[in-house]
Formats: sequence, C-alpha cells, structure tokens
Amino acid sequence: MKFLVLNGPNINLVGMREPGIYGDVNYESMLAIVAKECAEMGIETEFYQSNHEGDLVDAIQNALGRFDGIVINPAAYTHTSIAILDALKAVALPAAEVHISDVTKREDFRQISYAGMACCCHVIGKGIAGYAIAAKQLKEFIEHKQ
Ligand code: DQA
Repeated sequence: MKFLVLNGPNINLVGMREPGIYGDVNYESMLAIVAKECAEMGIETEFYQSNHEGDLVDAIQNALGRFDGIVINPAAYTHTSIAILDALKAVALPAAEVHISDVTKREDFRQISYAGMACCCHVIGKGIAGYAIAAKQLKEFIEHKQ
C-alpha cells in the first residue's frame, strides 16, 4: 500500500507558523513522524508540498498508477479550489482529507471544503497525528472495498 501525502500552502512552515493552532513540530520532523507511523502500519509514503495550486493539481494527476491513495491537506486551497476537487475526482484515487487544526471551530470562510467532497475519509483537528489516522482509515477503506 503506497500513499502520496500531499500538503498545500504554508504547511511547510508548521512549527513556526501560528504554533498555538498548528503546533511546534517543524515540517521535516512532521514528515519523519508520519512516515514512521505509516511504515508501522505497512504503508509506504511519499510526500509533496507546494504553495501553488497548479502544482498540487499536477501532483494529483501524476499520482494515477503510482499510488494506491492520496492523503491530502490542501490547506487554504481546501476552501477555494475547485481545480483540486476536479483533479481528485478525475483520477478517482481514494483520498483522505486532513486538517491539523479544527477548522469546524474556526472562521466562516473555512467551513467549506471543496477537496473534501472527493474524499472518503476526513480527519480534522487531531494535530499532525491526523495524517497517520487518515492513512489508517484510507487503508481500511481500500481493503474493505476489495
Ligand atoms: C489547515 C486549515 C486551513 O483552513 C488553513 O488554511 C491551513 C491549514 C489545517 O491543516 O488545519 O493552511 O488545512
């Protein structure tokens, strides 16, 4: 089982970015933690982060045939990007949505998730632990589908 773990804008700044909301673990350490937690569940991971919407669309398109699923935190593009939603629908790979913070308790503009409409699992507000939780849920979803 191999997942692409995709992160959108400013996720590369976790650790220094609004630590009260996103925690104090930096991006490199976060990737190491997620990779280890996933490896322990028998899930191989590859990580990609971009601040650019089109790059994220390209990464989703390129995932087809290379990955069993996508764990995605589209960050601010969650709330704006129909292009990311369409890309997820186009490749039709099973996808899990992650948000480090509890977006349900934040501003009104964070209450819509376009990407989430193409995701089978949603893990919100569990901090960086949410990535491995999402990977676990996605793995179970794929296994039960077969
Ligand atoms: C986020 C929540 C988004 O609303 C925000 O724009 C982010 C991060 C999260 O992980 O909690 O950049 O996706």
